[in-house]
Amino acid sequence: MASDAMDKIASLCKRRGFVFQSSEVYGGINACWDYGPAGVELKRNVKELWWQELTQLRDDIEGLDSAILMHPRVWHASGHVEGFTDPMVDCRVCKARFRADQLEDAVCPKTKKPVLPECAPNLTEPRAFNLMFKTFMGPVEEDSSVVYLRPETAQGIYVNFQNVLSPSRQKIPFGIAQIGKAFRNEISPGNFIFRSREFEQMEMQFFVPPGDALTWFEYWRDQRMAWYEGIGISPTHLRFHEHGPAELAHYAKQAVDIEYEFPFGWKELEGIHNRTDFDLRRHMEHSGKDLSYFDQEANQHYVPYIIETSAGADRTVLTVLVEAYAEEPERVVLRFHPKVAPVKAGIFPLVKRDGMPDRAAAIAADLRKHFRVFYDEKGAVGRRYRRQDELGTPYCITVDSQTLADDTVTVRERDSMAQARVPSEGLLAYFRERLG
Ligand code: GAP
Repeated sequence: MASDAMDKIASLCKRRGFVFQSSEVYGGINACWDYGPAGVELKRNVKELWWQELTQLRDDIEGLDSAILMHPRVWHASGHVEGFTDPMVDCRVCKARFRADQLEDAVCPKTKKPVLPECAPNLTEPRAFNLMFKTFMGPVEEDSSVVYLRPETAQGIYVNFQNVLSPSRQKIPFGIAQIGKAFRNEISPGNFIFRSREFEQMEMQFFVPPGDALTWFEYWRDQRMAWYEGIGISPTHLRFHEHGPAELAHYAKQAVDIEYEFPFGWKELEGIHNRTDFDLRRHMEHSGKDLSYFDQEANQHYVPYIIETSAGADRTVLTVLVEAYAEEPERVVLRFHPKVAPVKAGIFPLVKRDGMPDRAAAIAADLRKHFRVFYDEKGAVGRRYRRQDELGTPYCITVDSQTLADDTVTVRERDSMAQARVPSEGLLAYFRERLG
């Protein structure tokens, strides 16, 4: 994909109401994004498909929605206060800051040229920079009232392990899934919504007997890869990246990333980690509470190992946008998989007379009980098609003079632009078969 692809996608996202820069009227705030009408539907579909796959379609995973603000001791126990850092360097000349481990990709904000090799002599020695945002709880701003905005949703799951276990009557192996906001004071955010300071994670922690950890790690690695293919990402744009010892996070014994080929290179989309019993043991030590498990079948106590699948909702949205974006001689089109498309069908009267708007509005009213549709009667029909193409709407229905004679409509398919005549009473069945 051309190097200006990200600019084009960001501009389409603004034009069609997917994503806007946060606080734009004040000049924007760096690395924070707002989702507009189309974007919020797209992101909801991504999250819903993840939730459906991991909770609704299984009986061994429970859901959770834990608080963003947690007891500060959670983050001491988890190792984040001490170790959730990135190495940072400053430029002595232009005062810009960069991640020391990402200098190859860094661009000087002043000269717009690559930082290496030119700026190398001007850079300071790397120093550790903690990525957690801090704030204060209560009216007094002092050390004892510091709380953190969570940098991952996972810890909310670990500290609730026993709370979920008893009422759900689950037995190990089982998992807990959560979707929620996370915050990181990234040194070098960028690439549109790829790396931001406020983002959403879709995380699942699967608790297993220590001896079964490797088997479950491999199982989840494959399941997660299949999920991306199922939402329309081509396998040729996906790959695994196994972490070497130097890359492993402080909590992980084994880790593999699912990477996607973005216009700016192969980058992490999701991490699958064997976190061993690290987190539960640390919370046991710091809280003094027993978080071990009694396995009745094996008649033994143990602290479960955790296999984590950690995906970014915003990064998945970017992935489906990049995957879908296509430029054709006559149009720009988002070829979304119908499952993620924000709107499933555009519904138009060909002209605003002869009862066509009423008939089209009635069809829209019927179909919107089942999925999201968009009724549009303004402008030339070709222009209405193009607008829906840029929104990634898989089908458009047009009510024309033939509809008034035989109650059939024209259904136009987005990718092939092929048109078919479909009886209006058969539309729901027609779409059920095609929308997946
Ligand atoms: N609980 C483990 C964990 O948080 P991670 O690899 O740091 O692991 C998991 O993050 C996923 O969260 C990433 O693969 C990515 O999709 C998403 N993510 C992480 N930092 C992000 C950021 N600054 N902006 C957007 N998404 C981010």
